[in-house]
Amino acid sequence: MAGLIPDSFIEELLGRVDIVEIIERRVPLKRAGREFQACCPFHDEKTPSFTVSPQKQFYHCFGCGAHGSAIGFMMNFEGLEFVDAVEDLAHQAGLEVPREARRTARPSADLYDLLEAAAVFYQDQLKSSEEAIDYLKQRGLSGEVAKQFGIGFAPSGWDKLSVHLGTDDQRMSQLRRAGMLSQGKSGEYDKFRHRIMFPIHDRRGRVIGFGGRALDDDGPKYLNSPETELFHKGRELYGLYLARKSQAKLDRILVVEGYMDVVALAQFGFGNSVATLGTATTGDQAELLFRAADEVVFCFDGDRAGRKAAWRALQATLPRLREGRQARFLFLPEGEDPDSMVRQLGAEAFSSQLDESQPLSDFFFDHFTAEVDMSSLDGRAKLVELTRPLIDQIPPGVFHDMMLERLETLAQHRISRLVSRAGKARQASTAVRPVQQRTPMRMALAHLVQNPSLALSTGNLEVFEDCDVAGFEIFRELVDFCSRSPNMTTAQLLELWHDHSAQAHLNTLATWSLPGEESRLEQEYRDAVIGLELQWTDAQIKRMPKIVDLTADERKKLLSLQQRRQELIGSLQGEAPD
Ligand code: UTP
Ligand code: MN
Repeated sequence: MAGLIPDSFIEELLGRVDIVEIIERRVPLKRAGREFQACCPFHDEKTPSFTVSPQKQFYHCFGCGAHGSAIGFMMNFEGLEFVDAVEDLAHQAGLEVPREARRTARPSADLYDLLEAAAVFYQDQLKSSEEAIDYLKQRGLSGEVAKQFGIGFAPSGWDKLSVHLGTDDQRMSQLRRAGMLSQGKSGEYDKFRHRIMFPIHDRRGRVIGFGGRALDDDGPKYLNSPETELFHKGRELYGLYLARKSQAKLDRILVVEGYMDVVALAQFGFGNSVATLGTATTGDQAELLFRAADEVVFCFDGDRAGRKAAWRALQATLPRLREGRQARFLFLPEGEDPDSMVRQLGAEAFSSQLDESQPLSDFFFDHFTAEVDMSSLDGRAKLVELTRPLIDQIPPGVFHDMMLERLETLAQHRISRLVSRAGKARQASTAVRPVQQRTPMRMALAHLVQNPSLALSTGNLEVFEDCDVAGFEIFRELVDFCSRSPNMTTAQLLELWHDHSAQAHLNTLATWSLPGEESRLEQEYRDAVIGLELQWTDAQIKRMPKIVDLTADERKKLLSLQQRRQELIGSLQGEAPD
């Protein structure tokens, strides 16, 4: 890991790039008043509800709720991690990303270079190895696709790669860190020997590891790079970089098990294929898949191992099946894999198999109904018991409801929605609806988030001493923060408050459409603050002892509170305060 990116840089970066420009390059925008509009790239729609505000440097879709800064947009649209999105934007803006050194931070940049050099070495070796070329030919690979995937050849011998790259201590240490060496009794030697080499790229196209296939039956069929500081199997997908390179947002992505499958599929026109790296599909991978495409088709062997792999994939997928996302399963006949299948059937027939693949819901219920006796009441009760926890992992929405309805039909039993966790979440979300209710506090915060410079018109906060109105501490903190950098945009503010406990709340408030014209914003903000003070004044008055019990001082205090209350109401009604 290369260290943390300092906040000051995030602020600078968001000050430098223009979100309109960033988005316009990917989604055609139309000007609409002070903002820009488009049909939302994150969900299907006919009329535009996606807006981009140049002033706030913030986008928001009123349809699906997607929103965020230029960084957030890059993450969502390009499927990038935060750090990668920042680096991409920095690159476009001609900025260098500074790093705050971390205790364990070691420069990884040299490792990327090293692995790239190794990949080039293997590719060169392939060109001059008749044996390796013959092997690939015999497997039916075109030269073109081999080149596209950067396929290479690790020659026999114990130290061909290290000798080529250098065997001094520093180099050997890099090779070790990059996972390119094996440790033997008499020292270290090249890990990959006499193998066809598949470079594994991260989402930005950098080589982070390799898979190596044996040419004949000696040793394990595949060797893979071990986990290193650059390579984490569970967080990468073989082929994802190339798949995404062909198209920013794919309609569909195919998940297969093997390197060869990905390459063969690409050769037959399925450039949208990726492989898990010899592991079960992880949640991280499922997330990456759905960022790349709304429809994910898992394509596994029909044997026991394949079904098990598919089931693990289903489990990783369920919690991520938001509205608009879909997963399907294609099980291949025993002994076949996507590589052999597509060669046998041809692209067209394979494509129709994909179209006819099993929806997740069918796979899900088939799996369980095969396990219980559906003809008995006990069996059907068991079905409910087994499926319920899984169904409840699906985010609230139409799909979740339909799965429950299907369960009811199968179980011949009406299921109470109340005990369901997802149901509860949905209820809770209606219960917290009042977030939509425009209290003075929320209005004040919304105004500040959307126009940080308004903080300068807040006035004196002394009257709020000891104020315990909900959210007041956040308000005070936000006023402080915005007063210090009033020229900040909404996007900058939200990114800098990324780790703040109020972050989600402020994000929501940033999407509120505020009434009134720009010229009246300041007045509206002032009114919200006055509303806040009124609320606090009322709270204090309410807490006063009964009149008869008041001391002289308290009596004076009450009087002044009541007087202040009248003033505040007066100024809210438009009277000039004296
Ligand atoms: P398969 O055994 O299905 O191989 O392994 P394959 O991809 O069809 O390869 P070919 O067609 O025989 O060349 C699927 C995946 O499982 C991992 C690899 O990632 C491989 O692509 N695997 C398999 C290993 O890591 N090690 C092995 O020894 C075998
Ligand atoms: Mn195969």
